Amino acid sequence: MKRIITLFILGFSPILHAQQINANDFLKQVLSFPLGASVNPRLLEENTSYRGLVETEFTSLTAENHMKMALIHPESHHFDFTKGDEIVAFAKKNKSRVHGHTLVWHNQTAQWMKDFQGDQQAWENLLKNHIQTIVKHYHGQITGWDVVNEAFLDDGSLRPSIWTDHIPDYLAKSFIWAHEADPQVLLFYNDYGQDGKPKKMEAILNMVQDFKKRQIPIDGLGLQMHISIQSKNEEIKQIIEQSTATGLRIHFSEVDIAVNPKNNPDFVLDDTILQTQSDKFQWLFSSFGAIPRKQQYGITFWNVGDKDSWLRGYFKRPKEYPLLFDENYQRKSAYQELYQRLTKK
Ligand code: G3I
Repeated sequence: MKRIITLFILGFSPILHAQQINANDFLKQVLSFPLGASVNPRLLEENTSYRGLVETEFTSLTAENHMKMALIHPESHHFDFTKGDEIVAFAKKNKSRVHGHTLVWHNQTAQWMKDFQGDQQAWENLLKNHIQTIVKHYHGQITGWDVVNEAFLDDGSLRPSIWTDHIPDYLAKSFIWAHEADPQVLLFYNDYGQDGKPKKMEAILNMVQDFKKRQIPIDGLGLQMHISIQSKNEEIKQIIEQSTATGLRIHFSEVDIAVNPKNNPDFVLDDTILQTQSDKFQWLFSSFGAIPRKQQYGITFWNVGDKDSWLRGYFKRPKEYPLLFDENYQRKSAYQELYQRLTKK
């Protein structure tokens, strides 16, 4: 009884917790925007449960790694589109959209790029050729590109990289080159952790304003949303509103909600934590739903099942459960509750 009263106080109907949704009911069916996941082509090929979920649950796919510089352009005169093409073919068969990630980044650059020697013109040729070869290769097959990823530091300054070192105004140039290669494809600036970092957010907004003033093409902002159950809703709400006020399309582009952000080795996932995570997912989806419809580009999760998350692989946090599907690719309670909340009359 006490739990039921608490749930009512928190604004959640206990009925939501009682029902299991039908296996043939899908979250994607009750959303008015694409539901995406970043994917790993090896898992798509080898793991039938993973592949099955990607086929049935998601309507937008992003390569988690295989369209990044080091993988797609491993040598100066060689592009490797194999894995990217596999993802695009898979998406096409599945009638899913593809969102491209990412043309320019300071991270996962190819070794030959790090070693490259040349004057400003030579560097510009390198980056222009990189961007335009990829954008042209995927012409008509990709809806939008993260053109530049994570260019600003928390203090709002431009993040030092081989691009800032050699190409003045590389951000604007990257967008111009991408647009030249495919005037139809949507162009996004993508970044993380703007919540609670007003200087970083301000730098992004200033960039958008400057682009508009100089007529540099930009269509959208990617808010990665690598958040945790401890992230403050008020801070996130503020950056969503500030981003939306630009009039650009908004993409929650790399969503995961960490439950054990400090990587406590004794962490135990229990119902209370799962409920907190579920509430956060619901809040995030309803915040996205509050964005004007024409600006809603979609919500993309950063991979599929909890065990596929970069937080486990890259960050080596084995006791992390940040996604909508569990280690056995079963829908978590958060999935059920999201569906029920969205279909509640
Ligand atoms: O493929 C190699 C493999 O051959 C090698 O044996 C192994 C040894 O470590 O590394 C493998 O590459 C790893 C790659 O993921 C593919 O699994 C890299 O080491 C590893 O660094 C890389 O991590 C990726 C990370 O970006 C790199 O910064 C994560 O999977 C990926 O989820 C993550 O994604 C980024 C977004 O692009 C941008 N926003 C932040 C997000 C999380 O960091």
